Amino acid sequence: MSDENKSKKPLRSQEWYGKLDKDGFIHRSWMKNQGLPDHSFDGRPIIGICNSWSELTPCNAHLRELAEYVKRGVWEAGGVPLEFPVMSLGETQMKPTAMLFRNLMSMDVEESIRAYGMDGVVLLGGCDKTTPAQLMGACSVDLPAIVVSSGPMLNGKYRGKDIGSGTDVWKFSEAVRGGKMSLDEFMRAESGMSRSRGTCMTMGTASTMSCLTEALGMSLPENGTLPAVDARRQALAHLTGMRIVEMVKEDLKPSDILTKSAFENAIRANAAIGGSTNAVVHLLAIAGRVGVELTLDDWDRIGAEIPCLVDLMPSGRFLMEDFHYAGGFPALIQRLQDEFDMQAMTVSGSSLADSTKEAECFNDEVIRPLDKPLRKKAGIAVLKGNLCPQGAIIKPSAATPALLQHTGKAVVFENIEDYKARIDSPELEVGKDSILVLKGCGPKGYPGMPEVGNMALPSKLLEQGITDMVRISDARMSGTAFGTVVLHVAPEATMGGPLALVKNGDEITLDVAGRGLHLHISDEEMAERQANWQAQESEYHRGYAKLYIDHVMQADRGADLDFLVGKSGSKVSRESH
Ligand code: FES
Ligand code: MG
Repeated sequence: MSDENKSKKPLRSQEWYGKLDKDGFIHRSWMKNQGLPDHSFDGRPIIGICNSWSELTPCNAHLRELAEYVKRGVWEAGGVPLEFPVMSLGETQMKPTAMLFRNLMSMDVEESIRAYGMDGVVLLGGCDKTTPAQLMGACSVDLPAIVVSSGPMLNGKYRGKDIGSGTDVWKFSEAVRGGKMSLDEFMRAESGMSRSRGTCMTMGTASTMSCLTEALGMSLPENGTLPAVDARRQALAHLTGMRIVEMVKEDLKPSDILTKSAFENAIRANAAIGGSTNAVVHLLAIAGRVGVELTLDDWDRIGAEIPCLVDLMPSGRFLMEDFHYAGGFPALIQRLQDEFDMQAMTVSGSSLADSTKEAECFNDEVIRPLDKPLRKKAGIAVLKGNLCPQGAIIKPSAATPALLQHTGKAVVFENIEDYKARIDSPELEVGKDSILVLKGCGPKGYPGMPEVGNMALPSKLLEQGITDMVRISDARMSGTAFGTVVLHVAPEATMGGPLALVKNGDEITLDVAGRGLHLHISDEEMAERQANWQAQESEYHRGYAKLYIDHVMQADRGADLDFLVGKSGSKVSRESH
């Protein structure tokens, strides 16, 4: 191998493939059954391609094919690509919620990277939970890593109009319940919504996380927005394969890129794109793995003043295809360069300023100019108060402005079954000023903190034309959802947090400007209710669900498992035989 191809430090993979003894024989010989010639093991970088391909995760079903383009790039740059599968999390398919398994997948990713003889890894994924799980796992090993995302689907189409993943499902289903859409029309919209490979094409959690990956500096430019079917995504995969080989030689690791500043950029980006509330738990969890102190308060401190410039559903009008053709994420960064730390390092090996310097905006309707933002202050607001001592969040840009300051009487649902059984009952005592309160949907309670926080409104109010109400829970909501919805209340009800103590008719004040969430009962009354509160016995006594419930942290800590925080590095000191 020529000198310029040598890496800075001895390659890790040589501890597997460089030995001339029995162990080296074993590691090489069995790999050669795949047709790898001798020189594959002469000290060139071995690149893992960590693939969440699965036919059960429709947004990842094309990733076997995309991996082939990564491999071309790795070969071209003088590395050896080896693709491996990891657990895959299909957001729309898994019960009780894909979030229950994010941490499990992150363990699969981490242990697979560490146990095998690779020098760097390409993380190939895309869907709400696969992106964070792959980043979390890779951070805990800290070998050079770079992301290639699935890419969004083409715009949905129905009756000549664009329709958006998720966002229009919520709208259509309310329209059916309110008698404004027939069931037949509803069924027909289904096939038009998801009409190509790729991830949800609204600014839901998948698009949010792929854009934030770009903001964090963990992917090449344009990875966040390029449509899944666009040939340029295949070219991007090829270039990423070339780049990871260089990153191994440079020894450029996630911990070099994911500094506090990178996370601050991602928080700003989330406001600027009108991104998902789910980004809060995911960024907190990723930061925990890489050892960066990030707190819920950072979200409010850094993001609150940033304008939302991207006019995408659910906050706005357009879809991911439009965003990409308008210049994509790099064009947005260019527009907001005074707000971002443009010197932050990226996987490109250069700063954010450098990697976006050629970006241009081609459509001011989709990526708005600074003086015409979609929302002036678009960040996530972090609420505190006696109803959520460890915090709760709300996305003001997806809420009804008039409800951001609201006092109302609680209509309480003890769990999701209780909610489903009574929400459409004509007897339910509820008015447009009531506040819907849902318990038992936190990380431990459901378990897995599902996306049910944007609970649908009572049909008798929908029929009156009411479209939004204040809703409060310990759940999350889909990134494609909207409404005046207070989420991630911590501590959760199942742990006996104050949310557990709310009773029907209690008065609650939501004060987004003052960042407050207050239950109007006296401290004495609160203490008395607390003393009478009894925990329910969990129905999970074995397996992963038990491990999860025993160890999951609250939303304000990213809902990671307590023993997964931090990293163990890439060293494995013992041989297998
Ligand atoms: Fe996978 Fe939306 S369901 S991206
Ligand atoms: Mg989701």
